[in-house]
Amino acid sequence: MDLRKRLENYRRQEQELTWEGTFAEYYELVAKNPRIAEHAHARIYHMIVSHGVEEVDGVKRYKFFANEIFGLDRTLEKLVEEYFHAAARRLDVRKRILLLMGPVSGGKSTIVTMLKRGLEQYTRTPEGALYAIKGCPMHEEPLHLIPPELRPEVERELGVVIEGSLCPSCRLMVDTEYGGRIEDVRVVRIALSEERRIGIGTFQPADPKSLDLADLTGSVDFSTIGEYGSESDPRAYRFDGELNIANRGILEMQEMLKLDEKFLWHLLSLSQEGNFKAGRFALISADEVIVAHTNEEEYKAFVSNKRNEALHSRIIVMPIPYNLRVSDEIKIYEKLIRQSDLREVHIAPHALRTAAIFSVLSRLQESKKQGMDLVKKMKLYDGEDVEGFKPKDVEELRLEAPNEGMSGVDPRYVINRISSALVTRDTQCIGPLDVLRALKEGLDQHPSIKPDERERLLGFIAIARREYDQIAKKELQKAFVYSYEESARTLFNNYLDNVEAYCNWTKVKDPITGEELDPDEKLMRSIEEQIGISENAKKAFREEILIRISTYARRGRRFDYNSHERLREAIEKKLFADMKDVIRVTTSTKTPDPEQLKKINEVIRRLVEEHGYCEICANELLRYAGSLLNR
Ligand SMILES: Nc1ncnc2c1ncn2[C@@H]1O[C@H](COP(=O)(O)OP(=O)(O)OP(=O)(O)O)[C@@H](O)[C@H]1O
Ligand SMILES: [Mg+2]
Ligand SMILES: [Zn+2]
Ligand SMILES: [Zn+2]
Repeated sequence: MDLRKRLENYRRQEQELTWEGTFAEYYELVAKNPRIAEHAHARIYHMIVSHGVEEVDGVKRYKFFANEIFGLDRTLEKLVEEYFHAAARRLDVRKRILLLMGPVSGGKSTIVTMLKRGLEQYTRTPEGALYAIKGCPMHEEPLHLIPPELRPEVERELGVVIEGSLCPSCRLMVDTEYGGRIEDVRVVRIALSEERRIGIGTFQPADPKSLDLADLTGSVDFSTIGEYGSESDPRAYRFDGELNIANRGILEMQEMLKLDEKFLWHLLSLSQEGNFKAGRFALISADEVIVAHTNEEEYKAFVSNKRNEALHSRIIVMPIPYNLRVSDEIKIYEKLIRQSDLREVHIAPHALRTAAIFSVLSRLQESKKQGMDLVKKMKLYDGEDVEGFKPKDVEELRLEAPNEGMSGVDPRYVINRISSALVTRDTQCIGPLDVLRALKEGLDQHPSIKPDERERLLGFIAIARREYDQIAKKELQKAFVYSYEESARTLFNNYLDNVEAYCNWTKVKDPITGEELDPDEKLMRSIEEQIGISENAKKAFREEILIRISTYARRGRRFDYNSHERLREAIEKKLFADMKDVIRVTTSTKTPDPEQLKKINEVIRRLVEEHGYCEICANELLRYAGSLLNR
């Protein structure tokens, strides 16, 4: 599509958002659909659930967050249910400031940003439509026009609750421009937009110590005050503080707990009473969700200050811990990598898992449960089976450590370390060992990590390394076994030839030299032993095989590798045992012979084509896992 068409489409969509009418017409709209006059908390709640909700293992999962926030289902359920849902139903929490508390880089800002962007989008849809008095600097709810005397009746008729009173600017406008005829007041549909300063605000104090209250509540307009003569004339006031512009939506308060009390009281009065004081005016109504974020230390310091006691009880604290599931941690890294300069390099398979194991371990608390350790706990949390434990135990583990996840390694640290590994090593591919090395170097350079904490973290790097060693060995064996299907067949046929000769008292012909040989007893036994066939039972087993072969032959079928379950198992086990040697030899030799080279190349091809490796990390796996098997 060319640019002009695209812009035309965009303008058409925008036009659909422009509804304008009189207050009388708006009244009809509300009568048909009271939802359009709902309060900010309810709108946000409906926005979240409008994306869909599913239940996974008894925990609600909101699709709205699903592609951005990983591993925090319980946290988000609590946030949505206990705050937004309750507030939407006008329970008491609505009157409190929402404070997200959690460790650095734990997703607090991301959650707030999502709510803002989600609300912007939602108000552009038919379900999320909302309206405002045209020309109101705070884009206020048109129902504020209804005089208090008439409200009970109107509320009953419309099935809505009308809260708040006209802002000073609208009050003046109704009198001067409409001669008091509120039914004629112009109403427009609005779409919330942080960029346009409609309904979404961010308060970010440059310096919390030297703040201007005007940033929050607006200020006298010195350019027009001469014209209107008085500071209490709304035309000489700019209602452009963050509290004003965030009306109808959401206000993000950064560094809130660092603010001076006098600022905090404005926020509290707003959330508590739904209004705040500005300039020389009566209280100004506003309807907005105030959300702030902080870390645990800052919060504790705030609470321990006696002077903050009253404030404290008007804040609702939602802990936002780190994710504790390895598989979700990997998703977080993948997301962060997509957004970074790491997009271009190859991240070897298992590199992120190895890092995630380290991070998650650093966040877990030791359990007192019998036979439990951190690695088992980590696996249980991630839904893996751990011998001796049941899903019920996971619930108990959670109850045992209610504050788990409030400390440890943050996801950004890991990504930063991977980036720096990339810079210092100048490579096209980052593998699990590179990652662990980079994490370790990071600990060495980190001045704020205390010696015992450093020891603890080094221990987790060692565990992550051990976990990776297991993975690497299995991975390499698997790759070899797959490219060994041919060997399996050869070994199978070889065994049958020998069994036949053994049972019939004949010789075996060497396929290359043509020499007549006695059956290879050692070979047969080495296979049979894999499935526990004793010396006494070997004859019966071999005869049974021979009978099977002839039965197959009589029915015109071919007895092959897959025809005899136990024999196949024996062959595979034997191959696997041999594999260790083959891999050892194949991967440790500096000058592989043509046969070995062929095998190596075949394994590498498999790793690259089917298992997500590049040439570099496939060779690295061969070298490393080979050396592990050589120990
Ligand atoms: N559980 C998670 N799921 C998805 N992404 C996450 C998660 N935790 C952290 N992140 C990502 O890590 C990065 C840092 O998160 P964010 O900035 O939201 O953290 P924060 O809690 O606001 O940190 P700070 O206290 O430093 O302000 C973001 O890109 C965020 O998307
Ligand atoms: Mg943040
Ligand atoms: Zn107004
Ligand atoms: Zn690679």
